[in-house]
Amino acid sequence: MVQIIPFENGFGADVAGISPQLEVSDDQFRLIEQAWLRHSILRFRGLDLTPAQHIAFTRRFGPLHVMTPLKFNLEGYPEVFVVSNASKEDPARPAPVDAAGEAGLRRAGEGFHTDGEDKRVPNAGSLLYARRVPPERGDTLFVDMYAAYEALPANVKQAIAGRRARYSRIDLHAVHYPYMEPLTEEQKRERPDVFHPLAREHPRSGRTALYIGRWAVDVEGLPPEEGRRLIAYLQQFAQQPRFIFRQQWLPGDAVLWDNRCTQHCATGFDDGKYVRTMYRTTLEGEPPRMAVVPAGIAL
Ligand code: SIN
Repeated sequence: MVQIIPFENGFGADVAGISPQLEVSDDQFRLIEQAWLRHSILRFRGLDLTPAQHIAFTRRFGPLHVMTPLKFNLEGYPEVFVVSNASKEDPARPAPVDAAGEAGLRRAGEGFHTDGEDKRVPNAGSLLYARRVPPERGDTLFVDMYAAYEALPANVKQAIAGRRARYSRIDLHAVHYPYMEPLTEEQKRERPDVFHPLAREHPRSGRTALYIGRWAVDVEGLPPEEGRRLIAYLQQFAQQPRFIFRQQWLPGDAVLWDNRCTQHCATGFDDGKYVRTMYRTTLEGEPPRMAVVPAGIAL
């Protein structure tokens, strides 16, 4: 029987009592989906998934997104994006010979973000499956953005009502990915700046979440410096420990998160000594909808 075991404060829950291959009946799936919408992140432990099973389970939540560039996706399974520091060249971090495509994107996901926030249509959710994890560190932090929004001071809620942040891959690529090649002109054309509401209405729950991430630069309609200060304030506000769940990975763990009401951040580990390999499937999403601040709200 499927069991949903909420974490202490209701942000996040463990899912127990299901097959290690995530093969679930329609009734079980409905329960899991409801729990996901309610708790925003779900953790599964002790899984033993093939890429096909990983894909099949995620697809039950909606259409899958294929990450680009394609070279970081698992060979034969373009829906599986690989986050890994394994290296075919470095004997200290060997890529296993049997795992085609294990050498994925290194240091992806460092810095608080939501997947696809720098695209016009960000991703609804992601399922990250731990294949190889270091014996220490390499955790992932998740932020409850409903709770962060609710806790904002009234004057800040007022300041962000009806406003959109500008997200720019072009402005920030070199800041967040200094170890990667600069964007080509073609890549810049493919990733133009986008604007998303700071207070986002979740399309399924109807609740309002603070929506912000590391690709946000400034705020539409505000002088750039003022917008930058507001973005920095909101990021720091959301990153308070009271809103954060820390996932300490064991091999076989997977976490399904909802990008529309959470942020996440990969943390560091001894990259020269240990291999960390995660497989991620990613859900297509919808253009973020601006939350309506009810008239007469006591701000
Ligand atoms: C991600 O941001 O998708 C990856 C997070 C992680 O590797 O912990």
